[in-house]
Amino acid sequence: MRVIHELSERWFITHGRAMQNILFEKEKIGELELKNRFLMSAGTGTWNADQDNIPHDGDGYIHFEIASGGVAMVISGGLNVSPSGVSTSHSGMFADDRSAPFMSIFAKRIKDGGALACLQISHGGMWAWKYAKKRNIAPFAPSFIVDAELGDYSVSRRIDLPATEGQICELIEAYGNAALRAKKCGFDAVEVHAAHEALLSQMLSPVSNIRKDKWGGSVENRARFHIEVLRNIRSKVGKSFPVIMKLGVKDMLEGGLSFEDGVAAAKIIVEKGGVDAIEVSQGLSPGLLDFAYSSMRTGITRLENEGYYRHWAKLVKGAISHTGAKVIMQGGLRSFELMQEVIEKKEADFVSMCRPYICESAIIKRWMGSDRKKSACISCNKCIIRAYTEGKKLECVLKSGNGG
Ligand SMILES: Cc1cc2nc3c(=O)[nH]c(=O)nc-3n(C[C@H](O)[C@H](O)[C@H](O)COP(=O)(O)O)c2cc1C
Repeated sequence: MRVIHELSERWFITHGRAMQNILFEKEKIGELELKNRFLMSAGTGTWNADQDNIPHDGDGYIHFEIASGGVAMVISGGLNVSPSGVSTSHSGMFADDRSAPFMSIFAKRIKDGGALACLQISHGGMWAWKYAKKRNIAPFAPSFIVDAELGDYSVSRRIDLPATEGQICELIEAYGNAALRAKKCGFDAVEVHAAHEALLSQMLSPVSNIRKDKWGGSVENRARFHIEVLRNIRSKVGKSFPVIMKLGVKDMLEGGLSFEDGVAAAKIIVEKGGVDAIEVSQGLSPGLLDFAYSSMRTGITRLENEGYYRHWAKLVKGAISHTGAKVIMQGGLRSFELMQEVIEKKEADFVSMCRPYICESAIIKRWMGSDRKKSACISCNKCIIRAYTEGKKLECVLKSGNGG
């Protein structure tokens, strides 16, 4: 009798308590049901791509481990929809069916782990021009490319090179084709990367988009490319396939996208583009590895530093709630209680983390039990530095003992 009592008590702690919490309640994105409110935001270092930027190699992906750790949906790192968007030799491309065999395995292994699989599709825009030039591929930029390091938009170092109408239409098609390919590969959803340094951020920002035609000028015009990309995707994947957009709603640059325009853009994009969810993030920053102004902030040691896009996500949620589109909050979320409060107060519909899963793949399973201690991730960013600059496997240096 005592044994039964003890067992049922343990069951209550590990299951009953979890069931009671709003973070473990089901919710939908479009018509797709997620088993809880936790997502993994896009995060990869290298796609183990070959000389043609085709992703390979089924082993060593931390995403597979994370998928079995209790999270509802894993979003892959960004894959380029066109050769003109690839910026390094190890970046992955999803521009044709050569990428399909490995990406089908990637989706299946995430799903076998118990999570839904979402593919992020992206394009490097002006930052990909040097690599494009090396391979004799025409670069793609809203208005100009800069002959300098990331973030230096100065007039003296820029080469005017506005994409032609034909190039724009072709690229819109490429996003649609990539999304359809993702669906055929078995992914449950796609996410269009429109944040950080990605092409769609460059399109939305008045710093990098100085076009005078229908693709530039007013916020409606700067968001036109987003809407056309989403409409093209929808026409190909159908009504019930979830489409998410990770949207940068404010640039961290002088003269860049204002938050006011960012929210206006979010509203137009949802209303006219028919996207199912917006994952709120920032737009352009002054330099990729200047983490203080990037989406990967460091020094998240106190509760006050957590959730650095919380206020933005809450306001975006207010602006689009009439549409039924969902809002995903991310950016430095580390504590269970904070995320619970966010969902309880309806500031967002989902919460998402990236670095904490790299640090502890089964953090959600731990939280489903009685241990609700915050993530042990110290946001040192060594995971991304090693992966991007040294092409090493994505892992937490605290776990591997490789210099944490
Ligand atoms: C290793 C690594 C790779 C990332 N790659 C991408 C990416 O491909 N696309 C993207 O939108 N964000 C990318 N991010 C940013 C994350 O999705 C997320 O926005 C950011 O890390 C903040 O969340 P966090 O504090 O929970 O880590 C990456 C982050 C890391 C650490």
